[in-house]
Amino acid sequence: MNQTLTRLNALIEPHLNQVADRFDRELRSDLSCVGALTKHVARFRGKMLRPMLVLLAGKAVGEISDAHITLATVVEMVHMATLVHDDVLDEAELRRRGATINHLKGNEAAVLLGDYLISHSYHLCSSLGDQFAARTIAATTNRVCEGELLQLDNRGNVELTEEIYTQIVSRKTAALIATSAMLGAHYAGASEAVTQSFARFGECIGIAFQIQDDILDLVGDVREVGKSLGSDVQKVKLTLPVIHFLRTAPQDHRLLLRQLLKGNDEERSEKVRHLIAPSGSIEFARDRAKRYITEALGCLEEVPENDAKLALIEAANFVVARST
Ligand code: IPE
Ligand code: IPE
Ligand code: MG
Ligand code: MG
Repeated sequence: MNQTLTRLNALIEPHLNQVADRFDRELRSDLSCVGALTKHVARFRGKMLRPMLVLLAGKAVGEISDAHITLATVVEMVHMATLVHDDVLDEAELRRRGATINHLKGNEAAVLLGDYLISHSYHLCSSLGDQFAARTIAATTNRVCEGELLQLDNRGNVELTEEIYTQIVSRKTAALIATSAMLGAHYAGASEAVTQSFARFGECIGIAFQIQDDILDLVGDVREVGKSLGSDVQKVKLTLPVIHFLRTAPQDHRLLLRQLLKGNDEERSEKVRHLIAPSGSIEFARDRAKRYITEALGCLEEVPENDAKLALIEAANFVVARST
């Protein structure tokens, strides 16, 4: 695991282990065919960013309670449901250094497993007996779905603007990350104002997170990232470096990129990578992501200094520095 993640994990390790236990317990089934699928997704652990944010936000403003463990499990389960479905949409074969469910068992199994995960996340969330968490999680998944639908509606749109791109990213990715940080603070007794600062903190790092993910999809190393790359170009989902390039590159380069995006050259991801990598458009996107991180850090100014706050700052900086 990456050094920063190892350090952040260490601060909340017993709690993260409780999250893993609750995850396994919630997904237990008497059917072995179901167990085989859930075991596969549980075996390949990701960065655990969202649970980490629930726990660190809680610790930064108060105490981690059992509700935090449940919520951290819920957000990771929602996240995994979106990944299982997203891999169907992107026809991805590799996820968390393992085979995707769709690659292993087909699209039907992946669609149903994604549904099963989302259904369990609501089931687990309702065990809190608290309307606030349940309504917040449901409103968040509404936004995630809207983001995915808006993205789908813009597939193949080479005129996509930075503004619409940001709306897509803000819904499909940042909504759940914002909710993770916000619920962590709320359930530790933070005031409404502080809770809202945590929501904006999460939203900003969420947007930056997806910008960095999109950079990695374009120019990352599959051995480091551990998941299928190049699908944004393959599926003609325009991301920030591509949007910037189509706005600023010399005319002949812009034309070439449009042709590559509109054609069905099997190697177009590779060709687009070579065109964009030296152009400054990657740096532009990286700079945008860093600006969101600066705003995110500003949201924590009123939070008193403590270990968890420092960890949140470290997590925010990691989001744009990561290569995994
Ligand atoms: C991947 O999220 C999907 C995006 C929102 C870009 P993560 O990069 O957090 O995935 P895992 O949980 O670490 O595998
Ligand atoms: C999907 O975005 C983000 C979700 C909310 C699932 P991506 O398609 O970029 O995610 P990866 O790169 O496959 O993880
Ligand atoms: Mg994908
Ligand atoms: Mg991606």
